[in-house]
Amino acid sequence: MTAAPSTAVTRREPELPGQTVVIIGGSAGIGLETARRARAEGAEVILAARRPDRLRQAAADVGAVGTAAFDATDPAALERFFAGLPAPVDHVMVTGPGPYYAPLAELDRERAHRAFDDHQWLAIAVAQHASAGCGPAARCCSWEALPAAAGDPACRSSRRPPLRCPP
Ligand SMILES: NC(=O)c1ccc[n+]([C@@H]2O[C@H](COP(=O)([O-])OP(=O)(O)OC[C@H]3O[C@@H](n4cnc5c(N)ncnc54)[C@H](OP(=O)(O)O)[C@@H]3O)[C@@H](O)[C@H]2O)c1
Repeated sequence: MTAAPSTAVTRREPELPGQTVVIIGGSAGIGLETARRARAEGAEVILAARRPDRLRQAAADVGAVGTAAFDATDPAALERFFAGLPAPVDHVMVTGPGPYYAPLAELDRERAHRAFDDHQWLAIAVAQHASAGCGPAARCCSWEALPAAAGDPACRSSRRPPLRCPP
């Protein structure tokens, strides 16, 4: 005798009801998919990226409450963005800009330096801006090592133990 295939659906409560998620790099790739997932979990999302057209399309796609088109590696633009965010913000994710790749023989070392700096310093700048308004349960997580912020309890990276945001 064979058992009838089960069609049971497990129901659960959404994990982010009423929370606000900010995604810098939210118009494509991992950021956009994270936005979609956050919306499915009940969160409001605010998306940022450089190109306004793709950003508008992504925002319409996931039902974002806000967008901001700017270059996150521009420190003044990044500061303005955080200053203009509605409070409170519960989660901030940054994915852009991507790394610079080139064949070794064609590699532009100056450009490679800038791309490396952008990755390291953008993560730190975002952590600094975001931690100013974060609650006690907030975490700062990064794939980067965040070496300059290693001693700060507001930050953790995948290579360090989790630490709490200061109250
Ligand atoms: N996809 C993967 O499997 C994978 C795996 C491991 C690691 N990663 C890394 O994860 C990161 C994201 O990957 P992805 O595949 O999601 O990339 P993606 O599809 O190219 O998306 C990047 C997003 O960041 C935005 N962006 C890029 N530069 C920006 C800047 N200077 N300021 C503001 N927004 C900016 C882009 O929009 P605009 O271009 O309009 O600004 C876009 O919304 C990359 O660093 C990638 O190397 C990806």
